[in-house]
Amino acid sequence: MEDLESLKTQILQNIAAAADLKSLDEVRVAAMGKKGAVTEMMKGLGALPQEQKIEAGKKLNVLKNEIEQAVANRREILENEVLNQKLATEIVDVTLPIRPEIQGRVHPVSKIYEEVVAIFGQMGFDVAEGPDIEDQFHNFNALNMPPNHPARQMQDTFYLPHDANEPFDMDKSYVIRTHTSGMQIRTMENKKPPIRIIAPGRTYRSDYDATHTPMFHQVEGLVIDKTTTMAHLKGCLYDFVKAFFELDEIPVRYRPSYFPFTEPSAEMDIGCLKTKTELKVGAGSDWLEILGCGMVHPNVLKAGGIDPDEYQGFAFGVGLDRLAMLKYGIPDLRTFFESDVRWLKNYGFAPLDFSSMTGGLSNNGGQTR
Ligand code: DAH
Repeated sequence: MEDLESLKTQILQNIAAAADLKSLDEVRVAAMGKKGAVTEMMKGLGALPQEQKIEAGKKLNVLKNEIEQAVANRREILENEVLNQKLATEIVDVTLPIRPEIQGRVHPVSKIYEEVVAIFGQMGFDVAEGPDIEDQFHNFNALNMPPNHPARQMQDTFYLPHDANEPFDMDKSYVIRTHTSGMQIRTMENKKPPIRIIAPGRTYRSDYDATHTPMFHQVEGLVIDKTTTMAHLKGCLYDFVKAFFELDEIPVRYRPSYFPFTEPSAEMDIGCLKTKTELKVGAGSDWLEILGCGMVHPNVLKAGGIDPDEYQGFAFGVGLDRLAMLKYGIPDLRTFFESDVRWLKNYGFAPLDFSSMTGGLSNNGGQTR
């Protein structure tokens, strides 16, 4: 029992010195475990005379309590240290900027432009570009639409004064092109057949609602050779819509139609499913008109300086914005041209995801939108 004081001092010192929970537990076991120093002393009590036994038993109990208290205090300190350390290493700095974001977006119309060029490019088409301000010969007359032709009325044309110093003369004035079809004539003027071009670009009509804006985009297509037929037209446009919508199969149909610059003329529909909230291309029992097309009218070939007895071909015209609305589910055309950066962030594309037939057109799986 004389050792009791020094044992206590020793144990309390060890407890205070325990650097972590594991060594604290070792100190506890060494004192109070089954074979611990204090436990051994307890066991030794039996050998003492009755008087001393009571005295020593009390002392040992006090010691036991003191040790337990000291261990509990030390444990709390150590546990707090562990927690604080964890908090320090796992700290979240809420003032850091959010995930890095790609700067800038490609407008859906530019994306669709790239996609269309990639598809027809692979089919061997060249890209032709022409002026937005067009004379009436190229925009109308040469396309078998002479003055007073009723089809001119369908186009709500913007006319520009030919000469600011002279009285306005509708027949002489320039127009901002109402369609890209004038590029058929400009191409024929500059190129001998065989011809295979697409002409994407801006077009203008005085019209404004959810599906019409005064400025919009079209792609014109023109193929001329000696034996080009309507079957080529059908195959070419079928391949185009499949590639464009990135589907293996799409139901298509060609409806007879009328355009002054083609004979016969047709409109191409693709199969789709229309619900109140959604339009799903490629399946279902509904039809959606997507483009106009036909065999180039002999008068148009003549106007372009090509002999219609030797050459024939087909043409088509597609609305690019409409394709963008369809493919990317954008409901209102007017929003395309409002320059709202939030809209562009939502519907735009990552700048370096170029469209290609081998690398993917829209790359929708990637972090592009
Ligand atoms: N130019 C027509 C339009 O703007 C579209 C069009 C239809 C172009 C048939 C064509 C064609 O080349 O063959 O509505």
